[in-house]
Amino acid sequence: MSQRTLVLLKPDAVRRGLVGEIIGRIESKAGWTLRALELRDLDRATLEQHYAEHEGRPFYESLMEFMASGPSVALVVEGERVIEGVRALAGPTDPIAAAPGSIRGDFGTIVRENLIHASDSEESAERELKIFFPDFS
Ligand code: PPS
Repeated sequence: MSQRTLVLLKPDAVRRGLVGEIIGRIESKAGWTLRALELRDLDRATLEQHYAEHEGRPFYESLMEFMASGPSVALVVEGERVIEGVRALAGPTDPIAAAPGSIRGDFGTIVRENLIHASDSEESAERELKIFFPDFS
């Protein structure tokens, strides 16, 4: 089943020069296609919308501050089971728990600086794509 997902390469990925490496891993999956790509500073209003479900959690302010600390790369990726697939490529939230071979497992150590966000369901993808690429259809 072909799907679309919203992927963010977080400010640590941009600062560390890992954008090409991470996009390469996504692009090289058979049948997945980049449909949109933009480097941008994420403002507070956009981040509040995107992370609304996490408001009030202990890490919320720290996450918001980090996500506003520099530009991110926002992507729309399309392809077969891409929602589940990009999350599998990323690995679990905590990079120390992420297996070698996954993006977080290969490049991360700190939970907050875990390099990549990817929509976790079709409903989230639909909601998040509207926030980041409202004109995209
Ligand atoms: S949950 O309970 O499954 O919804 O939470 P989870 O998906 O693991 O995390 C939600 C987002 O919060 C980020 N996160 C953190 N940021 C900073 N510090 C800490 N300690 C922390 N813990 C979780 C996590 O990376 C998720 O953000 P995204 O952008 O979706 O990766």
